[in-house]
Amino acid sequence: MSTNTVDNKKKVTTARCAEMKQRGEKLSMLTAYDFTIASLMDQAGIDLILVGDSASNVMLGNETTIPITLDEMITFAKGVAKGAKRALVVCDLPFGTYQGDPMMALRSAVRVLKESGAEAVKIEGGEEIADSVSTLVKAGIPVMGHLGLTPQSINVFGTYGVRAKEEAEAQKLIDDALMLQKLGCFAVVLEKIPADLARRVSEKLTIPTIGIGAGNGCDGQVLVWQDMLGLNQGFSPKFLRRYADLASVINNAVEAYVNDVKSGDFPNQNEQY
Ligand code: KIV
Repeated sequence: MSTNTVDNKKKVTTARCAEMKQRGEKLSMLTAYDFTIASLMDQAGIDLILVGDSASNVMLGNETTIPITLDEMITFAKGVAKGAKRALVVCDLPFGTYQGDPMMALRSAVRVLKESGAEAVKIEGGEEIADSVSTLVKAGIPVMGHLGLTPQSINVFGTYGVRAKEEAEAQKLIDDALMLQKLGCFAVVLEKIPADLARRVSEKLTIPTIGIGAGNGCDGQVLVWQDMLGLNQGFSPKFLRRYADLASVINNAVEAYVNDVKSGDFPNQNEQY
């Protein structure tokens, strides 16, 4: 019997995320970028699916998340939203579509919700994006925050190393998290920060924190699906747990197919009309 406490039928909403935190039930989130994978994850009981701008890396082969466009994100999110019946679908607003201009943030988020069917947006940053968060929340758009390592700012940070190790940056992160909560965010991602800090933030907030490389004190966890299923072999940070070796499965299957085609073994009598 499964030890999973999730009610697999009940639709996950932002209100339900808050209830889960109150009950001490952890939130499970994975990224997905297409209908097929989202359907499988949904059937397996995932709580939230994030159409992350990590699609820039894992789907489009870019070095960073900077180049991906709003149109590309909407295309990925469309498939995911159709596949997710129970999970809450959150879509990243990509770089350049919300920073510095709350009305642009509103136009971008409205497009995501109307055109893709995603139910919430995620945006990166703290007090620098307060006006955008506030405008989206007032428009009735659920917003997930994202603090710590914020990959859209890679050109400022210069590396993807652990953030907020020093007290000043840790204090700013705590202040930013409290501010995002006050502005009405329904959850906040904490990426690559010390576990003690993530636990402190999670204890201070009434909204759930969802960690990636932020330890076990968060209210939920998120991973990129290609990483956790072993498709992305070159990527092995300390925080990553691999649940499968799909790279080998695919490699073996493709090799077998190539051999069968070349030898004339595929298709056989039963595989033709
Ligand atoms: O884009 C993404 O996949 C993300 C997660 C890693 C949190 O933002």
